[in-house]
Amino acid sequence: VTQYLADWRPYPFEITQTRLEFDIAPRATRVRSQIDFRRFGAGDLVLDGAGLRTLSLTIDGRALPLDLIREDDERLVIPAADLPASFTFAAEVEINPEANTALEGLYLSGGMFCTQCEAEGFRHITWYPDRPDVMAPFQVTINSDMPVLLSNGNPVSQAPGRAVWQDPWKKPAYLFALVAGDLRAISDSFTTMSGRKVALNVWVRPGDEGRAGYAMESLIRSMKWDEEVYGREYDLDVFNIVAVDDFNMGAMENKGLNIFNSKLVLATAETATDDDYERIEAVIGHEYFHNWTGNRITCRDWFQLCLKEGLTVFRDQQFTSDMRSAAVKRIRDVQTLRARQFREDAGPLAHPPRPDHYQEINNFYTATVYEKGAEVIGMLKRLVGDEGYRAALDLYFDRHDGQACTIEDWIAVFQDATGRDLTQFKRWYTDAGTPRLTLSEDWAEGRLTLNFSQDTAPTPGQADKPARVIPIALGLIGPNGDEVLPTTVLEMTEPSQSFSFDGLGARPVVSLLRGFSAPVTVSREICATEQALLLAHDTDPYARWQAGHDLALDGLIARATGHDGGEEFNRALAGVLTDATADPAFAALCLVLPGEEEIATTIAARGAIPDPDAIHAARRALMLDIATTHERALARLYDAMTQTGDYRPDAEGAARRSLRLACLAYLSRLDGGARAEALYKSATNMTERQGALEQLIATGRDKDALADFAAEFGGNRLVMDKWFMVQPLRTAPGNAVARTRELAARPDFDWKNPNRFRALIGGLTANHAAFHAADGSGYDFLAEWLMRLDPVNPQTTARMCSAFETISRYDSGRQALARAALVRIAALPGLSRNTAEMVTRILAGP
Ligand code: ARG
Ligand code: ZN
Repeated sequence: VTQYLADWRPYPFEITQTRLEFDIAPRATRVRSQIDFRRFGAGDLVLDGAGLRTLSLTIDGRALPLDLIREDDERLVIPAADLPASFTFAAEVEINPEANTALEGLYLSGGMFCTQCEAEGFRHITWYPDRPDVMAPFQVTINSDMPVLLSNGNPVSQAPGRAVWQDPWKKPAYLFALVAGDLRAISDSFTTMSGRKVALNVWVRPGDEGRAGYAMESLIRSMKWDEEVYGREYDLDVFNIVAVDDFNMGAMENKGLNIFNSKLVLATAETATDDDYERIEAVIGHEYFHNWTGNRITCRDWFQLCLKEGLTVFRDQQFTSDMRSAAVKRIRDVQTLRARQFREDAGPLAHPPRPDHYQEINNFYTATVYEKGAEVIGMLKRLVGDEGYRAALDLYFDRHDGQACTIEDWIAVFQDATGRDLTQFKRWYTDAGTPRLTLSEDWAEGRLTLNFSQDTAPTPGQADKPARVIPIALGLIGPNGDEVLPTTVLEMTEPSQSFSFDGLGARPVVSLLRGFSAPVTVSREICATEQALLLAHDTDPYARWQAGHDLALDGLIARATGHDGGEEFNRALAGVLTDATADPAFAALCLVLPGEEEIATTIAARGAIPDPDAIHAARRALMLDIATTHERALARLYDAMTQTGDYRPDAEGAARRSLRLACLAYLSRLDGGARAEALYKSATNMTERQGALEQLIATGRDKDALADFAAEFGGNRLVMDKWFMVQPLRTAPGNAVARTRELAARPDFDWKNPNRFRALIGGLTANHAAFHAADGSGYDFLAEWLMRLDPVNPQTTARMCSAFETISRYDSGRQALARAALVRIAALPGLSRNTAEMVTRILAGP
């Protein structure tokens, strides 16, 4: 069944108090609830429940007949006529955490009980209005012989076998959490700006205490940052974080009790890479920031998901920019947006940041809702300025604290705080698709005229795309490299619009879309010399990087389509390599060529059919050319970036390592993996270890290293996930499917663990030419595993279906094979609603 935004109606009751009592047991956990309702409007009492064994139901102590619940029905409807103005509904149900492999509701992970309730997991725990606009204070009693018993809010009493928690802040059920297990904490404290001392704990399995320090430091930095930048203070006496091994997503912002995928908590230099550290800091921040943007102010319904997610991603991006390098962070965010969100927007799964219908909400935790949702806020901030943004946010927190809100409420605070009409801007929230911005230029007598036009291709269900507001940040660079116009923001509101700049001496080059000021694709006439000029002289780091990246992309596309190409990029790299020691992170970003997926996307966007094998070959050939041309400079840099002193997971150290590994990728094309082998043996941190291993796999010199790695880290699940991921990802396309098949047959391929499944199967889908093998073996392999996983874990299965979202851009042979694989999945008896929706949308798509 499809749910529609237009069908939302207010819930006719409010809840004044929710009391829950759990008798924890692996196969038969008892849940007793007492919920105080007060009538608010007209209508029956409708409660949600799924997979519950209901033992009793009462209203004010009077038993209700259990046949109110119909078999396959996930709703309990109590007629309005039977209900007084206020009453207590009570239920006792039994649930089976051990059988819960879907990891939704209460489940067991490595002997520990934990929960995941967003979006609609609470209905797997007990009967409840499982919708975000019904908020209540919770009191939770946990009876269990597990040593550590946690829930939301503040502890009321803790005795062996029994703990009581009280959360004074009213919240929707999706923010409920419970943990019972044998856990150890690393503890610290934080004193808030008003002087409240908060006890902080990061809970891990015994033995993992030494790996949680970075998570704790990140939490403290997050709490301080949110006070300083947004004036937001924490509001309970304790803040708990728990790491669990089995988790469908990254982490969850449950009030006062954040639950994390252990890969986003546990890190040491020997076991985690620089990227892991950066993600840990970002996600710890993200979940913490949700305390205000998500928890204190939540969503009225799930269509509004980007209200909390777009904003919280935007906040975590700001946090990372402040903690690390703003330029690097922006470039990396643009790379991910392009790779994941533009791809989504261009295919059958395209949807607006605020969708207006869905079948399964878990399928909408997407790059569009999260990352594009954040970009839209970045545009708003640019349009209203830093002060306007701050005023709007202050008003948002003031006006809506304690409420469940909509995108309309969000837009209204910006309008009210700044006086700006945002009617047209709102289209960014309601319209799907990535606008294409086309620029043509006229030059005459010192006057440069920029003629812009915008157009957005139709997306499923949305044929017409009216013009949007596009903030275009640009500057002008003179022919000798001087900046003749500093950053200026043009506001485009029409389908076509021209802007002129007068009094220019010589024709400048436009540094367009500085800071990536809008999530659009750009189509413009620019020659290689001009791109090289921007790469050498642009003052905006993003635009500078983009110029080099475009130069490389044009060269790669030429090569992949049977022409020469890449010479200009190769030549321009000389300048990058000369300056590299001054800004290693920037140099590393410039050195990494556009990936095969991006090359394919761009070829398709230009109206041709991408050939995965030709793309793979083109990229390898250009790498070899570059390595040959710059061998000495690359080798010198590789040595200059040698790790000195102790590993520190900060931006400076990470920058040097990323440059070193970028050089290694080129040098390995010439030395057959000799340097990689030496680095693998001498490396003292996982960043270099993994980087070396990847090159050894790519050069086919991996046997000893892989065995050594497994021997050393066989007991560490998170590290072995890397081992399972790099093999399908880096193996030459012709062998990758066969190798992945062998790995999948290993006893330690614990496929019910989402991290392990995503590592191996996701590793293959990220190997572009292997997944899109012309014989369909990649598609068949994925389909086979999705069909195996679906009955066990629908959420993770459905999420991975998006590997198929690009099929319509390939040749008819590949398309037919991919479609056949999808049709097989669709025909699986008992297919989950999650996967069914994904497969249907992809098969229906353009
Ligand atoms: N709200 C969480 C976050 O963004 C995501 C949890 C979503 N989980 C899910 N099963 N849909 O931090
Ligand atoms: Zn979030």
